[in-house]
Amino acid sequence: MIVITGASGQLGRLVIEALLQQVPASEIVAAVRSPEKVADLAARGVQVRVADYDQPASLAAAFAGADKLLLISANEVGRRVPQHRAVIDAAKVAGVSLLAYTSLLHADTSPLPLAAEHQETEALIRASGLPAVILRNGWYTENYLASIPAALQYGVLLGSAGVGRIASAARADYAAAAAVVLTQNEQAGRIYELAGDASYTLAELASEIAQQSGQAVVYQDLPEADFKAALLAAGLPDFLATLLAESDVGASKGGLFDDSRQLSRLIGQPTASLSKLVGQALA
Ligand SMILES: NC(=O)c1ccc[n+]([C@@H]2O[C@H](COP(=O)([O-])OP(=O)(O)OC[C@H]3O[C@@H](n4cnc5c(N)ncnc54)[C@H](OP(=O)(O)O)[C@@H]3O)[C@@H](O)[C@H]2O)c1
Repeated sequence: MIVITGASGQLGRLVIEALLQQVPASEIVAAVRSPEKVADLAARGVQVRVADYDQPASLAAAFAGADKLLLISANEVGRRVPQHRAVIDAAKVAGVSLLAYTSLLHADTSPLPLAAEHQETEALIRASGLPAVILRNGWYTENYLASIPAALQYGVLLGSAGVGRIASAARADYAAAAAVVLTQNEQAGRIYELAGDASYTLAELASEIAQQSGQAVVYQDLPEADFKAALLAAGLPDFLATLLAESDVGASKGGLFDDSRQLSRLIGQPTASLSKLVGQALA
């Protein structure tokens, strides 16, 4: 039995879709805090169990009988370490044969402030003694594709990443990688640095958007505080504006770059290209 936490989220749903290609639905557990969000998965035969990171008792029940467990990192930055600790503790009680965790690219050396919670979680996993595999996911290309409408409206793509190269990949490729490690043997002890096959600067992303849309779009690099202010002015909540601006600065220092191609090797095909993903977003 393979349990996926965060199964109602964007990545979790894609992991379950990838697993359904290889594993009977009855052997997959979607562990979620709101079962009504995954009624469609239940209708397809996936087991749905209630699992709230903030309610440890729910985790023990959700993980009963689990063989492998994917902990998809929680999304409330700043609250994640105790939440992840509760999942790791419950996985230990359940006696899973493999715990997989979605960490951050080069979490041990990353300049991104986001790395701290992933470092702490990786340390908790090591201390647990559980057989574990760490999926150090790079940036989702979708994070940047979300800027396309504003870039087309104003003719400017804003950021603070300078000339930092970004080897992002689509969520679907990271999900496929998770499904591979959850269905293959001998994964315990491995740490994967997962990123797209190719990298780009934000100026190159602006050019790609311009070329495919036929509209003028240029990249404008801003100091972190100015980029954050622009994101706030665009209506983003403070925590997200802070996170995106900080992460762009991390990218300017190479924090989102990797050229090891471990992701495409793991999924057995090239990662989806920026050009293809921009085309899909524009369509
Ligand atoms: N690499 C990147 O670029 C990047 C970008 C953004 C996020 N991330 C990380 O990757 C994770 C997955 O990404 P995503 O796009 O799938 O995020 P997402 O769509 O926001 O999904 C997050 C999932 O976590 C669940 N969750 C949150 N708090 C929970 C709690 N207390 N108990 C149980 N479940 C809880 C959510 O449940 P509900 O549906 O009930 O809310 C949802 O299923 C994120 O959570 C974040 O840690 C990575």
